Amino acid sequence: MDNAFIAKWFSWDHRMPLKWHRAINRFLRYSRVGAQLNPASFRWGGMANIEARMNLFHLASQCAEFKVPGDFVEIGCNVGESSVCLQHIVNTLAPEKNIHFFDSFEGVPETTGKDAELHVYGKGDMSTSLFAFYDTFRRAGLAQPEHVHQGWFEETIPQYLPEKISFALLDGDLYSSTNHVLPHLYDRMSPGAVCMLGVYYDDTVLSRPHTIPQYKSPGVKMATDEFFAGKAEKVSVLYAGEYSNGYFRKR
Ligand SMILES: C[S@@+](CC[C@H](N)C(=O)[O-])C[C@H]1O[C@@H](n2cnc3c(N)ncnc32)[C@H](O)[C@@H]1O
Repeated sequence: MDNAFIAKWFSWDHRMPLKWHRAINRFLRYSRVGAQLNPASFRWGGMANIEARMNLFHLASQCAEFKVPGDFVEIGCNVGESSVCLQHIVNTLAPEKNIHFFDSFEGVPETTGKDAELHVYGKGDMSTSLFAFYDTFRRAGLAQPEHVHQGWFEETIPQYLPEKISFALLDGDLYSSTNHVLPHLYDRMSPGAVCMLGVYYDDTVLSRPHTIPQYKSPGVKMATDEFFAGKAEKVSVLYAGEYSNGYFRKR
């Protein structure tokens, strides 16, 4: 399966400086300004960059191609940019699989406990709408998805999770969201299934001192590492610039 659809959807092909950028860049170089202009990388806004989407493509397409038993789930889908990538992969490689999408579409809930202490997110951050989510599918030329579960994860999970999971994208940003969802996902993942963890930022593997706290979402690693203490699986970091993620494969 080609992955060029990601480059097209995220306008990566247009990342080379355009003619007028190059003219200004020549002036900046001449003036010894250590910066240059580039076109924006996203056509639709952007919760990730092309590297993060390519990582998603490789992990999800393996599970689809090798028929790891179960359905696909995405927990935290926002406007659906990652969702359309997953849908395209399933349509092409494993059309017998369902995809279940979960989000409040109202952003993150009120922060309490560790999330409140971390002070990275506040209630309603990343708020969007169900309309925007469906519209992303329409713009990608995909049919409207069937299994969309709107609500707080604490209310929709595990109730609406499929019995068996082949691939999961867990992208909830908070300690509380990760802490609630991860054990349920883990229990239902088939051997060989993969879970990609949005914003699993590990300073010891890849330090990014200048990256803003939202791109590090420290609660994700905290909850994930607590969960995996003593388990056979290991979480690996996936380089994707400021949007680096993590993943594990179920034994
Ligand atoms: C980073 S965004 C997801 C981005 C998307 N996966 C992508 O790559 O384009 C995180 C999403 O998780 C949702 N979220 C976080 N905690 C939640 C909770 N407890 N219940 C419902 N939604 C939650 C937010 O509404 C937000 O849309």
